[in-house]
Amino acid sequence: MPAGVEHERRLQHAVMAWIVTGLIFMLLPGTFLGVWNLVSISSRRQLEGLSAAWVQAHGHAQIYGWIGTFILGIGFYSLSKMGNLPRFAVRRAWLSWALWTPGVVLRWTANITGFAWRMALPLSALLELAGFLVFFATVSGHKAESGAVRKPREPWMLVVVGATCGFLLALLANLYAVSRAAFESQTPAIAHVLDQRLLALPVWGFLVPTVWGFNARWLPVFLGLRAPNGRQILAALALAWAAVVLALNGLALFSATLLLAAVALASFALHIFHRPERPAKTTGVHPSFPWFVRIAWFWLAAAAGLTLWAAAADRAGGIWGASRHAVTVGFLAAMVFAVGQRVLPAFCGARVLFSPRAMFASLLLLNLGCALRVGSEIPAYEGFAHAQFFWHILPVSAVTELTAVALFAANLLVTFCRPPAHLALHRIAHSVREMQVVETNQ
Ligand code: HEM
Repeated sequence: MPAGVEHERRLQHAVMAWIVTGLIFMLLPGTFLGVWNLVSISSRRQLEGLSAAWVQAHGHAQIYGWIGTFILGIGFYSLSKMGNLPRFAVRRAWLSWALWTPGVVLRWTANITGFAWRMALPLSALLELAGFLVFFATVSGHKAESGAVRKPREPWMLVVVGATCGFLLALLANLYAVSRAAFESQTPAIAHVLDQRLLALPVWGFLVPTVWGFNARWLPVFLGLRAPNGRQILAALALAWAAVVLALNGLALFSATLLLAAVALASFALHIFHRPERPAKTTGVHPSFPWFVRIAWFWLAAAAGLTLWAAAADRAGGIWGASRHAVTVGFLAAMVFAVGQRVLPAFCGARVLFSPRAMFASLLLLNLGCALRVGSEIPAYEGFAHAQFFWHILPVSAVTELTAVALFAANLLVTFCRPPAHLALHRIAHSVREMQVVETNQ
């Protein structure tokens, strides 16, 4: 086998390990625990009293265990290809995975079981940081191959690089927060105010900008959109970061106002709601794909609006919770469901998505679950009119989202278990030839 093909095959195996790990974190430590938490909140009719360590275990598993793991896997694959970078050692991808994964597992188990948590929490954060630094050193340490013409960095790349710095800062902040908890706290949980402020950093300083960067790269091709406006998208990133700084300093109202401006500017810069220039490319995925991408952007705008409302008027955590899940489920998870099912089969061995219909069903259920959740959480938690009715809806929303997540995972896992597209075609051609031989012999 030529060295290039062998390298590509090994790289694809490593990426698949990252993606499957992310799916596992998403399913049990992330979503199942989230459903469990929501059902217990609903049965007690209040958020207060639920173990903060369990809530944080869920949030950490979703943000870092699922989406963070996906981003690292995709990062290893795509940054090494798109930026004129020479091939890096696949071993680095495995080393990073071998540090990162136990870090996330340790954090979750320490939060849930409380076992040796004063040691486990800082150790988990250190392992995660070490795994990330291997990735960071790998993608930032490579120069363009000698002799290759060095192209100026495109805006999407700058946004992704910026978001990657946000990732680093989020991990450092996490290390700081869990170390403080290890010294000061009575339970394996970060103090409430610090935890809520710090959440702005991974969500708006790292995850949302990462999606903006990859949207800038892929949506002109996938949705036929006009090329993004580089200056505007960078300005949107700057606004989001300024909002994070304000949130970290407790200036929630000012922060939320900037977030609204950042979201409006980013959607304008990426031409999300403009008329496309070319038809969308939906081969291999469900034709509704472009609509779900746009709906995710509606959720992002709703999340920014809800954050403003929460900063002004939240009393019992309902508006904050709704704003958080509008961005995490409505925007981030929906974007991973939509764009992920478009690109991951190709990244993990030139495969074709197993079922575009399951893709449609997963996206539909995710959006339905998110709408039920966001729509019910506010009146239920905040004690508005008909709160009792909305308490009954919340578990339904949780199970709907769980079903969506299970469908998404099953569709990808079956896709990975099937042979790559070229091998499948090869097998079909082979069996056609065999049939022809049988027929001529008869
Ligand atoms: C899919 C179904 C999900 C369910 C049922 C669920 C449930 C919950 C519940 C009950 C809470 C406690 C606070 C509240 O009541 O609002 C919570 C908090 C949280 N969730 Fe989710 N969630 C889900 C998905 C997600 C996803 C996809 C993400 C991120 C990608 C996420 C990130 C978070 C974060 C960051 C917190 C706050 C943690 C903290 O306070 O430190 N959730 N979730």
